[in-house]
Amino acid sequence: MSDVCKIELAGQTYELPVITGAENEKAIDISRLRQETGYITLDSGYGNTGSTESEITFIDGEKGILRYRGIAIEELAEKSDFVETSYLLIHGVLPNQQELSAFRDQLTYHSLIHEDMLRFFDGYPPKAHPMAILSSMVCSLSTYYSDSLDPNNIGQVQSIVPRILSKLRTIAAYSYKKSIGQPVIYPKNNLSYCANFLHMMFAVPSESYEVDPELEKTLNMLFILHGDHEQNCSTATVRIVGSSDANLFASISAGICALWGPKHGGANQAVIEMLETIHKGGGDVKEAMRRAKDRRDPFRLMGFGHRVYKNFDPRARVIKAACDRVLSNLGVQDPLLDLAKRIEEEALSDSYFLDKRLYPNVDFYSGILYRAMGIPTEMFTVMFALGRIPGWIAHWVEMKKNQERIGRPRQIYQGATNTSYIPIQERS
Ligand code: SDX
Repeated sequence: MSDVCKIELAGQTYELPVITGAENEKAIDISRLRQETGYITLDSGYGNTGSTESEITFIDGEKGILRYRGIAIEELAEKSDFVETSYLLIHGVLPNQQELSAFRDQLTYHSLIHEDMLRFFDGYPPKAHPMAILSSMVCSLSTYYSDSLDPNNIGQVQSIVPRILSKLRTIAAYSYKKSIGQPVIYPKNNLSYCANFLHMMFAVPSESYEVDPELEKTLNMLFILHGDHEQNCSTATVRIVGSSDANLFASISAGICALWGPKHGGANQAVIEMLETIHKGGGDVKEAMRRAKDRRDPFRLMGFGHRVYKNFDPRARVIKAACDRVLSNLGVQDPLLDLAKRIEEEALSDSYFLDKRLYPNVDFYSGILYRAMGIPTEMFTVMFALGRIPGWIAHWVEMKKNQERIGRPRQIYQGATNTSYIPIQERS
């Protein structure tokens, strides 16, 4: 069967090549469509449009499959840690012992930010959202590396990758400390990536702090699960900003802003706020279902639904399974977990959700774990961003390696046709 797509337009037949992916996905290559036919395609929200060919992450939304560089997310969540998975995403292969040790050392020795940057935090109001701080601080970070901003200089890019991975973790922890009026806690070189973050988040100068291994293990798992997700909104943003030859700091800053939206990474905060509201209102799950199904009601069942997954999000399965274990190991009782399980059970027996194939996504249970770990709700999306950094970097590097053209979608114009200027005295 020939891999060619034939279309007929205005009585003329055209042939377009068909691309077959490594997992047998099919695409019609329309890169010459306008040149040959004068037509463009239209696909609001890009639900049917591929922006690139990528080797980083594979998702099968119908089967609920997610693999980083071919390795199943369930296996990585169980056997790997965040630093090793970050290396896998960015470099395309699992590191050998020497490569892994060298990568860990890079992240350890690039964890401090310039001392002058501490003063930046003083300019934010106490209740400033940490995503606003993270995005602006990562862009400001670029001013300290003005000699390493050439996006087409591999050596310069490789010098800033560990800095971004390591310093954004520090900035996130510092923003938390500033928000609660505590002194920032400097990173310690004898701690692992995740243990260092927990140390910077929860240690205080006046007493010693031991990182709980259960928290460190849980954080590694959560960061791995958020590591990458192919062409999601924020990753597509990082790629398109980078396609203008903007530097990696600027591209990541834009990705953080895209992730902030409650339809995307901001959903993990919105889920907990939703569960708290339902819980405070008496836990009426039926009423929540009724509102979620009412198109006139802006209420959405946050943490449910996904553009790609029309089955269980495999990340949600892993996180849900971890909730009972981690909360019991931490000795935490959270009524919101039981409420979340009741909502899931109710939704997955309701034809509205089943017909529209709306299942729990990565954000539905993640907040339960963050809460149990002592992470405040407004920091949840920052946690998502910290996990997603290796994925954003991997895609940005891939886009540069493939020398992709600047991203510039077309449109169909539907506005006023050719009209003349009307002098103000003649206007109504
Ligand atoms: C993430 O893309 C990624 O990979 C993202 C992500 C990643 O790792 O990067 O996986 C992370 O962003 C997960 C999604 C987090 N967002 C939420 O949980 C917010 C709630 N979900 C919805 O806003 C929605 O499901 C989206 C945004 C996730 C997906 O939106 P789509 O694909 O544009 O789907 P849609 O809005 O067109 O919905 C299809 C139908 C609609 O009904 P009809 O117009 O057909 O009658 O399903 C309904 C929607 O009204 N619907 C919901 C719903 N989600 C969709 N109805 C009630 N509650 C919901 N949550």
